[in-house]
Amino acid sequence: MKFQDFLQDNLSYRYACRDFDPTKPLPQEHLHILAQSIQFAPSSMGLQPYRSIFVTDREKKTKIASFSHTQQPVIDCSCLLILMSQKPYTLNANTAKEHYQRHQNINHIAEKTQMVEDILQQRFHNESCLIEGYIREQVYLAMGDMVRVATLLKIDSLIIGGFDTQKLYKWLDCYPNTFTQFFQPCILIALGYGKGQPSPKQRLPLGDVTSIL
Ligand SMILES: Cc1cc2nc3c(=O)[nH]c(=O)nc-3n(C[C@H](O)[C@H](O)[C@H](O)COP(=O)(O)O)c2cc1C
Repeated sequence: MKFQDFLQDNLSYRYACRDFDPTKPLPQEHLHILAQSIQFAPSSMGLQPYRSIFVTDREKKTKIASFSHTQQPVIDCSCLLILMSQKPYTLNANTAKEHYQRHQNINHIAEKTQMVEDILQQRFHNESCLIEGYIREQVYLAMGDMVRVATLLKIDSLIIGGFDTQKLYKWLDCYPNTFTQFFQPCILIALGYGKGQPSPKQRLPLGDVTSIL
């Protein structure tokens, strides 16, 4: 198959899977690749204002489903990924500097930190809701990359925005290693293997959503 045909197939292969086979687990090495796809995603100023939590335990997924309108894919998927976004008031020049200092080969820490400070002040006037939007943009970008990589691995997925953020946050806060000091739940992605066939794509025609100048 030509690479172009392969890509074309891949574009139409992804669909919102709402009927996962609970008996088919994802291979560990694929979960590792998905985690890396988030790690390597682009982010504004390289801030990576997100963390990921992979939940495979059925009891925990069932608990999370109770915060998600009992959506069955949350329970039946092989792995539920919780993407956490940085709390907006924790993003400032100090935390940006700390972030850059954790990179091994990063130069120009002072300049980069100053640029972050300028963005927060000049573009967002240090307003929490605008900074939150900026952070969520980065999370969604990482999510898009991850979902595309999942599709390349023939893993089905469902992006889930319909859940109670506060309830999930409180539940996560009871566990160690859930990043809740600086991060909060942003979006869920159910991952696994679907049982059925995707329904036909409902999309506006390409010419109606695309323009060439
Ligand atoms: C940000 C976002 C949130 C979504 N939340 C839900 C959700 O809570 N439950 C659900 O069943 N589908 C959810 N979806 C899936 C969309 O309904 C689905 O992607 C859309 O209908 C297009 O269908 P397709 O993905 O099969 O092409 C969400 C998608 C996005 C991008």
